[in-house]
Amino acid sequence: MSSALHFALERAMAFRLKKGMPSTDLSEPIPSSAPDLFSNDYLSMASNPQLRRDFLEKLMDSPSLFGSRGSRLLAGNTPEHMALENRLQQYFQTPAALLFNSGYDANVAFFGSVPQEGDAIIFDELVHASCRDGMAASRARKALHPFAHNSVASFERTLKQVLAECPQITARKATLFVSVESLYSMDGDFCPLPEMLRLLDQYVPRGCYHVAVDEAHSTGIFGPGGRGFVAELGLQNRVHTVIHTFGKARGLTGAVIATSAVVRRYLIQYARPLIFSTSLPHINLIALEASFDIVEGPLGDQLRERLHDLSAYFRKLLVELTETVPKSLISLPGSHITPDPLISTTPIFPILTSQPIALATFFQKHGYSAQPIPYPAVPRGQERIRVVVHSGNSEQQLCDFVTLLRQWASSPEIASLGANHGPVSVPERLKREDSIVEEKPVSSVASTGQRLASVWFSWITSFLWVPVKRY
Ligand SMILES: Cc1ncc(COP(=O)(O)O)c(C=O)c1O
Repeated sequence: MSSALHFALERAMAFRLKKGMPSTDLSEPIPSSAPDLFSNDYLSMASNPQLRRDFLEKLMDSPSLFGSRGSRLLAGNTPEHMALENRLQQYFQTPAALLFNSGYDANVAFFGSVPQEGDAIIFDELVHASCRDGMAASRARKALHPFAHNSVASFERTLKQVLAECPQITARKATLFVSVESLYSMDGDFCPLPEMLRLLDQYVPRGCYHVAVDEAHSTGIFGPGGRGFVAELGLQNRVHTVIHTFGKARGLTGAVIATSAVVRRYLIQYARPLIFSTSLPHINLIALEASFDIVEGPLGDQLRERLHDLSAYFRKLLVELTETVPKSLISLPGSHITPDPLISTTPIFPILTSQPIALATFFQKHGYSAQPIPYPAVPRGQERIRVVVHSGNSEQQLCDFVTLLRQWASSPEIASLGANHGPVSVPERLKREDSIVEEKPVSSVASTGQRLASVWFSWITSFLWVPVKRY
C-alpha cells in the first residue's frame, strides 16, 4: 500500500536510521538466560516469593479485582484508590499525594500543567523524556533552560542568567521551577541537591522557586523505609514536589506525586494524563499495597542493605579490574571510582568502553540482556554498557560477570582494539550520509535478538542527548 502518509512515515524512519537512531518491530524478547544484571528491578521485587504470596492472599480477600471503570474524575475514584493515596501521603510524609498510572504520566502531568505563563524552568540536561515532554507542553515552554549534567557551576550560571532574563521571578510575580532526578539512570550518579538548594537560597527569594525531584531510580532503595534520596538527605521540607514511580524498585507500575495540597488540587483540575485516562485497576492497587508492605518493612530493610553491600562489593571488583585492563576497553566514571562517602553506593554502573557493541554482543552470547549504548546515543568517549546490581544477585554472580569482563578485555582480538584504539567503534552505517531506507539497523555482527536489544535501548537513550538549548 502506498500513500502520502506511508511515504512520509517511511521517510521519517529512514531519517532516524540515517542519524543512527535505529528502529524495532518488537518481534522478539530481549534475551536473558543469565542472572539479571541489567533491569531496573533493583530490589528483585518482580520475582520476590513473599510479594507473590502476599499479593495472591490479598487478591482472594478483595471484593474488587479488575478495572476501576473510569478516570478518577468519573467512576474511577474508588475507596481503594483513596486508601492507597492516603497511605502513600503518610508514608512519604508529604502534605498531599496524587496517584498516577505511570511515572511517565506523572511527569507529563506535573510539568505540563503546573508551571504558569511567565514562569521559567531550569533542568538538568539528562532529566527523563517524560519531564521534557511535560515541559514542551507547558505554559512555560518558551522559558526552558537546561544546565550541564550535575554541574553545580553550570546550574549557578543558568540560574543567574534566567533571573536576569526574568525579573518577574525576584519581583515575586513568577516562579522558577527546577527539575532534577535524584539518581540518574544513565550515569548512575546522584544529584548535588544540597548545593543546588544552597544556590537557590542565595539567589532566589523563598517562595519564588519550586524544586521537583524525580525519584524513579532511588525510591524504595534509599532513605528510611525506602522513602527515597530526598528523605535520606533530610531535605523533605526543602523540596516542593517529589515524583516516586513504582516500575523499578517496587516491581510494579504506577507513580505518586508527593506535593502540596494546592498543587494536588490544581493537578486534579488540569492534569490531562489524570483527567483523560482510566485510573489504575484494582489488581494493581492490591499489588502496590503488598509491595509497599514489604518495601517499608523489615524485609525491605534487608533487601536495601543487601543491595548496598552488593553494590559496594561490585564497585570494588570493577575498580580492581580497571587497574589491570586498558582504559579504552573498560573504565568507570570518576564518581564511581571515588564516590562521595556520605552517600550510599549507587547500584548503577556505567562501564565505559570504546567497544560497546562488541562488549554487549559478548555478554549476550553468554545469555545476559546486555545492551550497548554507542555513539550517538551518548557523546563520543562516553560509550558504555550499563550494569545494574540487584538485591537478588549473589556475590558469585558479580564475580562471574567481572571474570567475563576480564576475559573479554584480554582476548587477543579485543586487546588489539584496545591497544590500537583511535576513534570509537561506530558502525559504518552510522557515518554515511546517503539514503538508507533499506538498510538493516545496528551492528551486522549481532543476532536479531541482540539487534533488538541494542536497537531498543539506543532508541530510548537517544532522547537523553538531544539538546533542547545550549547552555
Ligand atoms: C527518571 C525516570 N522518570 C520517569 C520514568 C517513567 O516511569 P514509568 O516507567 O513508571 O512510566 C522513568 C522510566 O524509565 C525514568 O527513568
